[in-house]
Amino acid sequence: MRYEVDFLVIGSGIAGLSFALKVAPYGKVCVLTKGDASEGSTRYAQGGIAAVMYDSDSFDKHIHDTLVAGDGICNREVVEMTIRQAPDRIRELVQYGVGFDLDGKGDRFDLHREGGHSEFRILHHKDNTGEEIERGLLEAARRHPNIEIKERQFSIDLITQHHLGQRVTKHTPGIECYGVYALDCDTNRIDTYLAKVTLLATGGMGNVYSTTTTPVISTGDGVAMVHRARGVLSDLEFMQFHPTSLYNPAEKPAFLITEAMRGAGAVLKDRNGNEFMQKYDKRLSLAPRDIVARAIDNEMKLSGRDYLYLDARPIGKQHLIEGFPTIYAKCLSIGIDITRDMIPIRPAAHYQCGGIKVGLNGESSIRHLYAAGECSCTGLHGGNRLASNSLLEAVVYAHNAAMAAIEDVKGLGFNTAVPDWNAEGMVLNEEMILITQTKRELQEIMWNYVGIVRSDLRLQRAFDRLNLIFRETEDLYNRSVLTEPLSELRNLIACAYLIIKMARARRQNVGLHYSLDLLEK
Ligand code: FAD
Ligand code: SIN
Repeated sequence: MRYEVDFLVIGSGIAGLSFALKVAPYGKVCVLTKGDASEGSTRYAQGGIAAVMYDSDSFDKHIHDTLVAGDGICNREVVEMTIRQAPDRIRELVQYGVGFDLDGKGDRFDLHREGGHSEFRILHHKDNTGEEIERGLLEAARRHPNIEIKERQFSIDLITQHHLGQRVTKHTPGIECYGVYALDCDTNRIDTYLAKVTLLATGGMGNVYSTTTTPVISTGDGVAMVHRARGVLSDLEFMQFHPTSLYNPAEKPAFLITEAMRGAGAVLKDRNGNEFMQKYDKRLSLAPRDIVARAIDNEMKLSGRDYLYLDARPIGKQHLIEGFPTIYAKCLSIGIDITRDMIPIRPAAHYQCGGIKVGLNGESSIRHLYAAGECSCTGLHGGNRLASNSLLEAVVYAHNAAMAAIEDVKGLGFNTAVPDWNAEGMVLNEEMILITQTKRELQEIMWNYVGIVRSDLRLQRAFDRLNLIFRETEDLYNRSVLTEPLSELRNLIACAYLIIKMARARRQNVGLHYSLDLLEK
């Protein structure tokens, strides 16, 4: 089937839906999403969204905290723009119907604090903020007559001049995006979506690693598509590991224990119940994430244990049960009463700071292609994202991209010369084991050699192992009818390759990139 839409949006998380709602008055919008519309990292966000809402805080402080967490390599212009826009974007979320908790008197937002923040500035909805944001945006988008949301539609590749038979390299000037090819997961048909403007909002790539807080859909599809289309990517060496995921080895994704708990008084402890963060940073359990994750990693290696503890008991029983109901219920379901017991935790891959390189308006290096949310790299996070700045970045860049796309779309047509997908000669690969086993191998390689602590030798080893996996999978791809698992595997391999390549090129320890070979002697 062939479709023509003014605005094509890939992804129905906070970035995709915010953009869709903004451009909808100006044309027909089609949102493709590979699973159920509500599935994505957005709905799992716990802590909340950072914004300066009152005079007790200031833009300058939030800017300063973001720059410090980013370890000196954030883009200052981007940081200032994003943080100054935050209050407007928050008010819009409220207008769309998103509810944030209010304080006792009910006239101000109740604000939490997280690692790296010098003030209480995290707007939240109990400990399930993302679920509330996703619900509010999805309901608003479903009400809009110009927005069509199509579930179980897996976007495979961007359509560019390459599909018109031209040779496209990363040096080709003026690469253009004409839309995407997408697999209808119910019929296994590959459809052609022609668009005037396309937004990638495909989220993160946590599943490159064996332990991750991100949902199974986070397979770096947008980044891999741009890589194949020869667009510009950046900063992928900066994979953020969240210090505190619940240690429950069989569970995938790993359940998050929000940093807001540390903001409320929970403390990290070793297996003997002793605090240890004083050895690493004067901000203790509330130091930025890269520092805390490395400290936990080191303590785990020193003790030979697979987990440490978060002691949430100082928060108090009532506050724990009322303020953190999701975590309380989850832990209780596996026999841990957080009002009495310490919580076993370990770090998990959580957020990709790098991605599709975009300018201030979310514009990528490919014409008429925008990116927003976790799949993009705006320069806001530098070497390490400040907690709760990613939901914020997503709404700010969805807004900027929408404003630019509304102008961009004027006078554009559809490129009807684009051919349909050619699947001739392909056979259905029935050996799922080839895909599942390769994915597992990849995730272990990345966890063991390209994790929180790296070295030249580990990166080389990962690269060599990945090469073999890459060749085997390309061979499978060239013979097989395309399926979602195969396509995701290819995308994960591409992302892993890019992470390793960028990690090897970064010859200085900064933010989340930490190599034993780069320690100052
Ligand atoms: P997502 O919400 O991940 O949505 C991606 C969308 O793209 C999905 O709809 C998916 O189906 C679709 N998609 C992907 N690939 C394809 C494809 N090939 N074809 C079609 N559709 C596709 N950040 C904060 O600021 N505050 C927090 O408190 C916070 N807590 C978090 C807690 C957890 C457990 C996790 C995992 C992350 C948390 N983050 C938090 C990070 C934040 O939630 C994410 O960065 C953000 O939600 C990403 O939004 P997004 O719209 O970019 O992507
Ligand atoms: C958390 O709640 O700890 C996650 C916040 C974030 O990833 O920004």
